[in-house]
Amino acid sequence: MTAKLRLPAGGTALLAGFCFLAAATAAPDLPKDSTKKAVAADTAALKDKIDDIAADPAKGRGKARTAKALALTLAVYGDDATKGQAAKVLIALDKKDYKGAADAAKGLASPAADPAALKGLDGKFDLEDVMSPFRPARSGGLNIEKDIKDGTKGAGKLDPKDAELIGARTAALAEYTLKLPNDKAKTNDKTTTNWERWAKDMGATSKDLTDEAAKGDKADQKKLLILLKKLDASCSNCHNDFRD
Ligand code: HEC
Repeated sequence: MTAKLRLPAGGTALLAGFCFLAAATAAPDLPKDSTKKAVAADTAALKDKIDDIAADPAKGRGKARTAKALALTLAVYGDDATKGQAAKVLIALDKKDYKGAADAAKGLASPAADPAALKGLDGKFDLEDVMSPFRPARSGGLNIEKDIKDGTKGAGKLDPKDAELIGARTAALAEYTLKLPNDKAKTNDKTTTNWERWAKDMGATSKDLTDEAAKGDKADQKKLLILLKKLDASCSNCHNDFRD
């Protein structure tokens, strides 16, 4: 996570809103190859979710949130054109325009840069959207929380390829988490600082996890295990402090 993304303790809502653009344009320093793979995986997952929602909008609420989050991760580590196209998907999802979202998602195959769409992201997503990919698949998520927890049960429980994708996605989601303190976190400077601390822990550990997992067969399984435990702790620390 870069220093210029740091939000001063007690930053105003206006400042937080302003910073989304920075979050959407400044990628965490992840291995290039890992982000390339994550862009491909997110694009495929996004299309799947949108197809499912279009088939049955009434059952698609959790999926719509996860789809938004996938557009957000693409807006962190995609190239400029992908970022703009992902923003169009999110804006259509926000309007519940699933046909438009499906068309925009198809456009990810040959995206066009669209800085205006990227600016239009502000205020169109919330923390619950950002947390949704962590939910179980049956609740519309991507099962990431369970995958992390399973991975903490012993070295080798998680394929480095899967750990690499979890790391990239979680690093990108941490950028948004940092900027979305809930009301409880905004109680005073101390609570805001704690929120930022857990979100930064989440981001930094996710980056370390991606770096190690990107080594593939050569990844140090013991190190992956330690990093998964550390990542899980950053989630729990914040939930214990701030989640009702
Ligand atoms: C900085 C604080 C913070 C961090 C770090 C954080 N969370 Fe959360 N998370 C929250 C809060 C607050 C909520 C409640 C959101 C709401 O309902 O609006 C939440 C909600 C969730 C939910 C429920 C989503 C839903 O509404 O169904 C899941 C699952 C989740 N988090 C998983 C994770 C995982 C896994 C990590 C770590 C990789 C993580 N969180 C890191 C603050 C955090």
